[in-house]
Amino acid sequence: MEEILWVEKYRPRSIRETILPDRHKKTFQAMIEGGSIPNLLLVGSAGVGKTTIAKAMCDQLDCSFMVINGSLDGTKDTLRNEIRDFASTTSMHGGRKFVILDEADGLTHNMQPALRNFMEEFSSNCGFILTANRPHKIIPELHSRCTTIQFDIQSGERKDIMKKTARRLFSILDKEEIEYDEKTVVALVAKHFPDIRKTINDLQRYSVNGAIDSGILVNFDKILLNNVIELMKGKKFSEMRKFVAENDIDAQEIYDKLYEVAGDHFKPSSAAQLVVLLAKYQDMATRAPNQDITLCAALLEISATLEWK
Ligand SMILES: Nc1ncnc2c1ncn2[C@@H]1O[C@H](COP(=O)(O)OP(=O)(O)OP(=O)(O)O)[C@@H](O)[C@H]1O
Ligand SMILES: [Mg+2]
Repeated sequence: MEEILWVEKYRPRSIRETILPDRHKKTFQAMIEGGSIPNLLLVGSAGVGKTTIAKAMCDQLDCSFMVINGSLDGTKDTLRNEIRDFASTTSMHGGRKFVILDEADGLTHNMQPALRNFMEEFSSNCGFILTANRPHKIIPELHSRCTTIQFDIQSGERKDIMKKTARRLFSILDKEEIEYDEKTVVALVAKHFPDIRKTINDLQRYSVNGAIDSGILVNFDKILLNNVIELMKGKKFSEMRKFVAENDIDAQEIYDKLYEVAGDHFKPSSAAQLVVLLAKYQDMATRAPNQDITLCAALLEISATLEWK
């Protein structure tokens, strides 16, 4: 059976359940109570609840919505037609519809102007919610058509958010019947703060050991690196891809770690070649809209061309 990811299983379904500063919750709640959501641009770093809020608002308003991922679907020729087909038809129960454009910063510069026109053309029938990590990749014409909400956490709010996050994690671990050391979980929240997704993913991966103890704080990178190395050694290409997709890996961390351990795992000539490959993929990563693809390509080329000790 496919393992269910805790991040999906425990994704909050309503604004109330989501962990955010009260001022943000109030803003979203007021939109729901007023029965109308303006075109929105939700901006913030990874794993802080942007996609969660976009979906929860549509769920709470009970309106039909479609989700498009700008990084994955952004270059698809058919995307415009798909959006047009959805946005131009009225929903079954007559209410307003929404297009959630997740990772809108991954949309090409051809696609963004089209979106601008759609926002106007279909405004009576369909709203748009964009999410982005890098708002500067979004053209000014879209910025000006959206209300921007920055998912920031001010220093005075930090403690409260961390406490609520830890409490939520305790409840997830209780439901999964995994034993845990509370202090360790709190330290993990602080380590990855404000990225809640990363914290949950770490807990799920480490939970195969049976309990959450302080090992998660020190050993974790090593476990992850060893997994990656095993997959590369075995030339398990499809598993490699699955691993990258499911594990929310920080690609830069993997490049750094491989650089550090090059001499331990590769024959000398290959260790040198590894450095060249790492430099190449790090450079690519600065321009790539989808870091998972770049990381997968790096792992594939390393495992296909280099010799292990
Ligand atoms: N504010 C939050 N409250 C509760 N859970 C959260 C919150 N933020 C993230 N999570 C957990 O992390 C998962 C991923 O969150 P989400 O997809 O909303 O992140 P995101 O901000 O859209 O990140 P990205 O920029 O990487 O797309 C959620 O399914 C949920 O389990
Ligand atoms: Mg998201």
